[in-house]
Amino acid sequence: MHISVIGTGYVGLVTGACFAEFGMYVTCVDNVEEKIAELQEGRVSIHEPGLPELVAKNLREGRLSFTTDAAKAIEQSLVVFIAVGTPARADGAADLRYIDEVADTIGQCMQDYKVIATKSTVPVGTAMRIKERIRAVQRQPVAFSVVSNPEFLREGSAIEDFMRPNRVVIGAEDPHAIAIMKELYSPLYLIETPFVITDILTAEMIKYAANAFLAMKISFINEIATLCDAVGADVHDVAKGIGLDQRIGRKFLHPGPGYGGSCFPKDVQGLIHFAREAGVELELAPAVDRVNRQQRQRMVHKILGALEGTVAGKTIGVLGLSFKPNTDDIRESPALDIVAALLAQGAHVKAYDPAAMPAARRVLPDVEYCPDAYAVCKGSDAVVLLTEWNQFRALDLQRIRALLAQPVMVDLRNVYEPETMQRLGFRYVAVGRRGAFRPPLPGMPQPAT
Ligand code: UDX
Repeated sequence: MHISVIGTGYVGLVTGACFAEFGMYVTCVDNVEEKIAELQEGRVSIHEPGLPELVAKNLREGRLSFTTDAAKAIEQSLVVFIAVGTPARADGAADLRYIDEVADTIGQCMQDYKVIATKSTVPVGTAMRIKERIRAVQRQPVAFSVVSNPEFLREGSAIEDFMRPNRVVIGAEDPHAIAIMKELYSPLYLIETPFVITDILTAEMIKYAANAFLAMKISFINEIATLCDAVGADVHDVAKGIGLDQRIGRKFLHPGPGYGGSCFPKDVQGLIHFAREAGVELELAPAVDRVNRQQRQRMVHKILGALEGTVAGKTIGVLGLSFKPNTDDIRESPALDIVAALLAQGAHVKAYDPAAMPAARRVLPDVEYCPDAYAVCKGSDAVVLLTEWNQFRALDLQRIRALLAQPVMVDLRNVYEPETMQRLGFRYVAVGRRGAFRPPLPGMPQPAT
């Protein structure tokens, strides 16, 4: 089957490369010429494990190609995936400009039946909007179907998530389109992947509901961690104790500086916004967002508390800048807000991240970027662990302690064990851990010892 994917950003490129790996003939389209020229040579600028190899292999085997000629790609395809960006506008609503442009192009060049599938996270109702736009610009009436086929890819494990998904969601209006979509995903039958076949609006809703629920789990455990800090309980044991209840589940209960990335913050906002447009004032989603913002503030207070209330004139070492490990993505990364707050309070900040430093340099030019974790620690008054890259899980702690001007570690990802750190002579601050040093938080009672 010939398909095309419009938009070679993160979602589009992973989708295109993986469908090619499934045996489809895939044309990926983008209007940025340099990007297409690079991809034609097999050069992938997105940091995603396994993606460059998959692109190179399928290019070589002739199933994957790249072009700026959208009309030609659409003409040759039975299924056209829309995977262009839907950035958030200032008011939190999704900006559908690029989606509209693509819909117009599809409508103008469509000669025969096609399935038009949305992959990007789009507000409920977008597929219907696409349908209307295509109809309005068609030169002569040509039959087509619109489908919502949301992705649930995590950065850093997107290939695995695509190849072995927990489920595939297909929202469609007609059985013909459903049959075509199922054929596309037929390699997944072998691994008995569940399919959720539903209407278009519901499929669009599933994506928002999934992301908002996951974000809610994180905000929930972060609030519980704050409470654990206040009373002296241990959030890891709480997470295990509740997570073993199968109705709750163990995943996504890891406390930290709050969620970031290109999806959760934007999708929670998007959900609040389109609910409001539908006349529904949500209660939970705004609270999830509020807790997530507060969490960043709380982390700044933790750092201040670890250093007797002030960072002015002190040097703070930061490990990790990306919103999570194994990516160079710093979008909505809690690290950015936390570092900016430290700089604003007069700290000198040294930082190292295995992948995100080039991106971070552009938004945080006043940080001193270092070649590794040890250079960060040298002479610093505290080291703050902000992203749990594997290499930060196996630090030579004795060396770190010797390099620091004061033996203070603020571990905002709870990578280390409080007892071990104490034994090694650190003042160790974590998130909701028993046995860690717990500075009082503003507005919170003095922690019981
Ligand atoms: C997410 C969804 O998982 C994916 O299904 C969707 O399609 C896109 O958004 P991604 O943004 O790549 O994927 O990251 P994910 O691994 O889900 O983590 C998101 C954020 O939550 C990160 O900042 C991470 O550090 C944080 N997180 C995650 C926690 O703080 N605690 C957890 O227990 C899990």
